[in-house]
Amino acid sequence: MIIAIDGPAAAGKGTLARRLAAALGLPYLDTGLLYRAVARRVLDAGRNPADPQAAAEAARSLTQADLARGDLRGGAADKAASQVASIPAVRTALLEYQRKFGTENGAVLDGRDIGTIIFPNADVKLFVTASLDARALRRHHELSARGQGLTLHEVRAELAARDAADANRKAAPLIAAADATLFDTTEMSAEAAFTAALALVRAKNDV
Ligand code: DC
Repeated sequence: MIIAIDGPAAAGKGTLARRLAAALGLPYLDTGLLYRAVARRVLDAGRNPADPQAAAEAARSLTQADLARGDLRGGAADKAASQVASIPAVRTALLEYQRKFGTENGAVLDGRDIGTIIFPNADVKLFVTASLDARALRRHHELSARGQGLTLHEVRAELAARDAADANRKAAPLIAAADATLFDTTEMSAEAAFTAALALVRAKNDV
């Protein structure tokens, strides 16, 4: 079974995907980590994440160890990940890995283009979103808990910029698949989203 979960940053995709994977006994892939790891490699090499050649080379030479790094989230990596993700050759280089991951044993995958490009025939597709204000509050809360001193205003502006970049790029833009079920978590708890998503999966797949 393939479950595709797409949506903007900080909408609650990751939490939902992880919980569904655990409940259904499926492997989980956070595909954002792939783009983050590519970005990290480019930054570490002192190159520009907007340079298609530098980013494509990094994507083609990605290793499992790159994905396990502890510095893939926050700061420069967020913006650089969005930059490398807009480069078609990067997306092509990462496509096979994602398809192989999913088809080996089934999987829950979250990202931006899982239901549209990576697995257009996924068994279940969810598009998880929430208002910009709700997402900014959640992300700000997470960052504050980790001791990072960005203001709510800064977090909101950074999310808005990343939304715009992800949604307006030509290559695999962030968009809900026509057959995805929309989950707006603005006023929905993580628990309620999980319960509703699990019920949907069970109704569709008899599991
Ligand atoms: O989900 P995330 O915030 O960790 O993703 C990091 C960046 O990677 C984000 O700006 C969009 C991009 N991304 C993408 O283009 N396609 C995916 N399937 C997953 C992430």
